[in-house]
Amino acid sequence: MRDVGFDSVHIDAVGNVVGRYEGATPDAKTLLTGSHYDTVRNGGKYDGRLGIFVPIACVRELKRQNRRLPFAFEVVGFAEEEGQRYKATFLGSGALIGHFDARWLDQKDADGITMREAMQHAGLNEADIPKIQRDPARYLGFVEVHIEQGPVLTELDLPLGIVTSINGSVRYVGEVIGMASHAGTTPMDRRRDAAAAVAELILYTEQRAAKDGDSVGTVGMLEVPSGSINVVPGRCKFSLDLRAPNNAQRDALATDVVNALKDICERRGVRYELEETMRAAAAPSAPAWQQRWEKAVDALGIPLFRMPSGAGHDAMKLHEVMPQAMLFVRGINSGISHNPLESSTNDDIQLSVRAFQLLLDNLAAEQAH
Ligand code: GLV
Ligand code: MN
Ligand code: MN
Repeated sequence: MRDVGFDSVHIDAVGNVVGRYEGATPDAKTLLTGSHYDTVRNGGKYDGRLGIFVPIACVRELKRQNRRLPFAFEVVGFAEEEGQRYKATFLGSGALIGHFDARWLDQKDADGITMREAMQHAGLNEADIPKIQRDPARYLGFVEVHIEQGPVLTELDLPLGIVTSINGSVRYVGEVIGMASHAGTTPMDRRRDAAAAVAELILYTEQRAAKDGDSVGTVGMLEVPSGSINVVPGRCKFSLDLRAPNNAQRDALATDVVNALKDICERRGVRYELEETMRAAAAPSAPAWQQRWEKAVDALGIPLFRMPSGAGHDAMKLHEVMPQAMLFVRGINSGISHNPLESSTNDDIQLSVRAFQLLLDNLAAEQAH
């Protein structure tokens, strides 16, 4: 950011990297953009980072032309979006809207390191987190470029897609507690196998989500703590990630899955603990901002294709306080993501830079009137 000519760059109290390119006048409002720079374990390099580098490329060009827009441009590399290390997630974008809960600082990672300790180790000052909350009145809105992370655009042979809405989601972590016992001597009808109970939950979740057609449900983490080959699992830890295009559909899915867990555990004579760790509302794009992306993509001669986002994004948090809309860039390798095979092409990424520049130009023209 410094190299390309941002006016100011700093790392804020939650670890976001914030660059500002000021507008033509000091009182100008700000257009906010950005995406996350954390990744999932063994993920791809474009998820998140693309949405930071594309606007950086735009600022490089503005600076090269020595051009100022009638609004300031703020690019944020969000510190945490994926929810990998701690239960709480959207730490970066959440802090910007004042939703950082100080109790999260006591959460521990898999090695017992608290979020507070991790932040201190990174040189961050937790006391300053509330200060980074933005005043939405100072902002025009939030836009985010992101790799699609799915096969739709590549199957249609389209480089860019217009996001209409981001699916709502809810996440849980849970544990089933049964009875560890000898694998050789415990008859099948007397077991209280915690892992088998979770296995049933996974199969139920698959069927229940599939029934909706456009809901998804995933158990991505599954662990028999201190398990042994010759011991019936006494405990089984699991995660649960449920998503749907609207909040009502997500909630109905969650109710059914949680009830299924209850029934499965009762029938099997085991008990469970379940903690909701995240709930993000579905985030429809603001029509005026979606139209700005459409105008830019149309001007590039690319057919307009509108699509929902199955993945979660920082835009969901900003959505709570300001209008937002996203632009998707085609991925190759069938659009695979959360996998090192995730990739895109220089040509497609260049088109997203062009679209972003056009959006800035058009917004500048709108502001002039
Ligand atoms: C973030 O990538 C998510 O959708 O889980
Ligand atoms: Mn991701
Ligand atoms: Mn992402």
